[in-house]
Amino acid sequence: QKSSCQSGSKKSEQFSSSGFILAAIGSSVGLGNMWKFPYVTGQNGGGAFFLLFIICLLIVGLPVLLGELAVGRAGRGDAVTSFTKLSNKKGWGALGFVAVLAAFLIMTYYSTIAGWTLHYAVESLTGNLFNNPNYEQQFTAFTAGMWPIIWQIVVMALSGFIIARGISGGIEKFNKIVIPGLLLILLIMLVRTLTLDGAAAGIKYFLYPDFSVLTFQSALAALGLAFFSLSLGLGAMLTYGAYVDKRQSLPLATLAVGAGDLTYALIAGLIIFPTTFTFGIEPNSGPGLVFVTLPAAFASMPYGSLFGGLFFILLAIAAVTSCLSLTEVPVSYLIRRFGFTRGKATTTVVLAMYVIALPCTLAAGGAWSDVKFGGRNLFDWLDFITSNVMLPLGGLFVTLLVGYVWKDAGSETGLRSSGMKIWLFTMRIVAPVLIILIFLSSVGLV
Ligand code: PHE
Repeated sequence: QKSSCQSGSKKSEQFSSSGFILAAIGSSVGLGNMWKFPYVTGQNGGGAFFLLFIICLLIVGLPVLLGELAVGRAGRGDAVTSFTKLSNKKGWGALGFVAVLAAFLIMTYYSTIAGWTLHYAVESLTGNLFNNPNYEQQFTAFTAGMWPIIWQIVVMALSGFIIARGISGGIEKFNKIVIPGLLLILLIMLVRTLTLDGAAAGIKYFLYPDFSVLTFQSALAALGLAFFSLSLGLGAMLTYGAYVDKRQSLPLATLAVGAGDLTYALIAGLIIFPTTFTFGIEPNSGPGLVFVTLPAAFASMPYGSLFGGLFFILLAIAAVTSCLSLTEVPVSYLIRRFGFTRGKATTTVVLAMYVIALPCTLAAGGAWSDVKFGGRNLFDWLDFITSNVMLPLGGLFVTLLVGYVWKDAGSETGLRSSGMKIWLFTMRIVAPVLIILIFLSSVGLV
């Protein structure tokens, strides 16, 4: 009976203990793990980047996640409300607004990819996908055509429809099927991909760290990916935290989400890289990587069309559940701050999003993909600014609020003695210093 939609409005609305863990894992597992993680890892040279990602996840991501959950549970509101309440200062509310803006902007390109996923589900089930085994050519033709625009509208309309009605228990129960279902299919695929000819080369690329290929930009990308993948820095976990019972152990929830997120990323890598090396696909081919690689894996499996269809459908649902938590952040903000009705807030947010979402889809492979400013098209910019700048900034604000301003943070987490000391030290010093250093080094200042 959890509903992240009615952001803290009624006290009685609360997650059951297992429901919360599942919803939090559901928010964190999505396109970030299956689509973004493999391609960003591929663009940054493989194993060493994966190691950086794990370090960012453990040293910065998990402590910040615990902080966000604690802020949400104590603040009982959206990002702006909780920040203002716990700091007692209006200025902090403005910092919370960065989070709302980030969620809004992420949705504009996340919905593009969610749309791609739906298309691939249909194409796989009908078997069309396997008619032309040049998956790169197929992907390029698809993204240059009309379908991405149509599927994105489907995704946004669906998300808006569900959000406008309030997130019913139903859609969240989906997570109970989708998250384990996705895991099952992934494990079946894993058996196939690990027995491919190129498996050894792929595994080596993914797990053997070659530090010579890393740049300072890679560190920023790893940090951004860790935040994105854990749904941090934009108030989503904070909003969920507002529906958590006081008796729930936040540190345990944090560990469960971290373990779940890393597991999906690891399996995704173990599926994608053996396949790329077997079928001669470039691991650094960018956002299309998964859509070019997986069809080749499915085509080489018995019942591949069915597995492919199921996989892409589950991934699409996992993506839509993430879309809900993304859209809900600005919607709940409009409801609380400006007194909009839920219907009006949803319509306003979805229409405003679409103004950016459509050009973003055109830039992701269509007519505007070559319209570049400073080397990036609109799609790349939105991804870069949100993941690599806004999310780490949002995370930085959480560490500062928890570490220096809000005095009761430690006791809210339920950590004791040395655990609490280590966490507070991380939030005061380690995490903010790392975030700032990575920022400065990536712009060439350190
Ligand atoms: N964590 C989600 C994923 O990995 C993306 C997301 C980010 C969802 C932020 C909600 C909030 O796909």
